[in-house]
Amino acid sequence: MADRDMQIDAKNYRVNVPMLDGAVIVIRAIRPDDQERLHEHFEGLSEKSVYFRFMGIRRDLSPQDLKHLTELDFKNHVGLAATLTENGRERFIGVGRYICGADPTRAEVAFAILDGFQGRGIGTLLLEHLSLIADANGVAEFEADVLGENRQMLEVFAHSGFESHRSLDSGIVHLRSLTSKLSF
Ligand SMILES: CC(C)(COP(=O)(O)OP(=O)(O)OC[C@H]1O[C@@H](n2cnc3c(N)ncnc32)[C@H](O)[C@@H]1OP(=O)(O)O)[C@@H](O)C(=O)NCCC(=O)NCCS
Repeated sequence: MADRDMQIDAKNYRVNVPMLDGAVIVIRAIRPDDQERLHEHFEGLSEKSVYFRFMGIRRDLSPQDLKHLTELDFKNHVGLAATLTENGRERFIGVGRYICGADPTRAEVAFAILDGFQGRGIGTLLLEHLSLIADANGVAEFEADVLGENRQMLEVFAHSGFESHRSLDSGIVHLRSLTSKLSF
């Protein structure tokens, strides 16, 4: 766990993380030149993962979506990618981001990990690094709306200390936590 009091240059965020299988992944800030990598990542997600991420059917990301999701201000919209480089080619295996609404001290978090890489701790890692940046950037609270059937996402949030409030009508669970209280 990194030191929560340190200064963080979110736009140039980059850390190497060794995984249990020996591979080293990089958790880094998403850049404007990542449009193709992000598109490829979206196309690699199963229908179910897309449904869980976007809470509905989504066939593709438009050029406007790709611009919005890669040209980030790293203040109100912070995005991190988990990347793997093989044979000199870097690809996204997971993406996590937070976006502030009208209140800049609260942000909504969302994640999408390629199906073949789910359940290996990458979602948890992205949440951890996003929370460090948020804490340093004055974002005091994270929140998320998650489909009640999305067990993996609910477990990741529960393990790190989020509290949940289930809305029985919609099947959506609303979760929130102070970013300073999250633990990994
Ligand atoms: C939901 C999602 C982001 C989770 O990411 P992930 O990398 O698969 O999650 P992790 O590997 O970090 O954690 C999941 C597993 O670790 C366990 N885990 C997480 N933190 C843990 C901890 N501190 N201690 C013990 N177990 C823990 C979870 O219980 C879960 O167990 P499982 O392997 O039996 O499923 C990912 O599955 C995904 O992208 N799904 C599709 C899109 C989606 O649902 N997005 C969420 C919309 S907000």
